[in-house]
Amino acid sequence: MTQVLYRKYRPLTFEEVEGQEHVVRTLEGAILSGHIGHAYLFTGPRGTGKTTMARLFAKALNCANKKGHDPCNNCHTCNEINGNRFIDLIEIDAASNRGIDEIRNIQESARVASSHGSWKIFIIDEVHMLTPQAFNALLKVLEEPPSHVVFMLATTEPHKVIDTILSRVQRFDFKKLNVNQIETKLSRIARKEKISIDKDSVTAIAMASAGSLRDAENSLAKVMAYTEGEVTIKDTSEILGIVPEDVNRKMLSALEGGNANEAILTISEISESGHDLDNFTGHFLSFLRARLLNSFDPSKEPGAQTPEFLARTIKAFIKARSELRLSPLPQLPLELAVIEIANQQKQ
Ligand SMILES: Nc1ncnc2c1ncn2[C@@H]1O[C@H](COP(=O)(O)OP(=O)(O)OP(=O)(O)O)[C@@H](O)[C@H]1O
Ligand SMILES: [Mg+2]
Ligand SMILES: [Zn+2]
Repeated sequence: MTQVLYRKYRPLTFEEVEGQEHVVRTLEGAILSGHIGHAYLFTGPRGTGKTTMARLFAKALNCANKKGHDPCNNCHTCNEINGNRFIDLIEIDAASNRGIDEIRNIQESARVASSHGSWKIFIIDEVHMLTPQAFNALLKVLEEPPSHVVFMLATTEPHKVIDTILSRVQRFDFKKLNVNQIETKLSRIARKEKISIDKDSVTAIAMASAGSLRDAENSLAKVMAYTEGEVTIKDTSEILGIVPEDVNRKMLSALEGGNANEAILTISEISESGHDLDNFTGHFLSFLRARLLNSFDPSKEPGAQTPEFLARTIKAFIKARSELRLSPLPQLPLELAVIEIANQQKQ
């Protein structure tokens, strides 16, 4: 692999962005109408598209051959921005440049019009890391922004951004991506990379990435690097250290059938194969929740288990999970929970 997947597949058009519909629509509208704000703040969890969107907006503002609201990705400016060398797009990482001098530099630079009459764009990443003086200096610039300048601030921790800044920006809250959205993009990448990968693997990666597309893309890269030929759920679970879905099914059927012994054996298998029980419990809970919600959805086939049984099992595992974090023997709270559930089934 010559390029990291998540860089190679960074969306080049608004259309390629998964989710974040409210942000996409508003920014597209701004481009079409020409009503451009001077300061935007992108907040939200990591790997959900904040930097991507800021660069896309910068490109759409400056592209010479825009098609509607989308940049052409072909003109000189688009090429320069895609190659990270456009001189009027200045990206600063506030985590490593926190001080007042950095903001003074920005102040100076913002005063100078860009060379070819284009928009000058400053992307300040991790903006919550600025020192109080730097924040105040930034505020000064935002109070009287030069006409050709756009500030795009990004942060995962908006509560650390001072109110006076918040009141001068248009704020967009990015959301975690859902499993479906992540699966869509992973499948597209697999097709383009000519990788054959089973559906269970795609789902497992999507579920394990907790809403971050960058994490999902990195996991896919890892799985691709370690497997030859077709990627199956067996390899994927092993490489990513996740408990395969069929273990969830096995556990559920043992509990439902009142088979405490089988359930206890499953716990020790999971533990012996080197998996973290806390992690397993988390996945098992998502698995149970999906079953429970399914049982209320009239469009879905009714499952084998009653909602009462599922709810009872969920409650017992939530309790066990909070206990296993404190227990000297992490298996113990889970064992007690499965004995209780299995015994109730037998009554
Ligand atoms: N909404 C999305 N649609 C499509 N791809 C995405 C999306 N969000 C993230 N990605 C993928 O993840 C990579 C990283 O995204 P990006 O740098 O925009 O995240 P971020 O929100 O800025 O994260 P951080 O807070 O860690 O800086 C992108 O290059 C892209 O491949
Ligand atoms: Mg970012
Ligand atoms: Zn262009």
